[in-house]
Amino acid sequence: AYVITSGCAGVKDAACTQVCPQDCIHDAGNQFVIDPDECIDCGACVPACPVGAVYPEEDVPHDQRASIARNRDFFL
Ligand code: SF4
Ligand code: F3S
Repeated sequence: AYVITSGCAGVKDAACTQVCPQDCIHDAGNQFVIDPDECIDCGACVPACPVGAVYPEEDVPHDQRASIARNRDFFL
């Protein structure tokens, strides 16, 4: 699944939600997050984000690894 990292916080542009075919990107308050069970790995959200906050899970930078759980746990 794709993951939104902390670069989203304070920006929350929401352009990603306009292009997601699954409607699986949700406002979690401080930032938006992606439901990993609904994401189909299409990648459309990556170029849509003006601050480059979205990554495939395997490419999330090391200092942003906590974002993986932050996205997943919102939907538990
Ligand atoms: Fe939605 Fe595709 Fe981004 Fe997954 S990769 S969150 S399905 S736009
Ligand atoms: Fe956040 Fe970028 Fe989407 S700032 S709301 S991940 S377009």
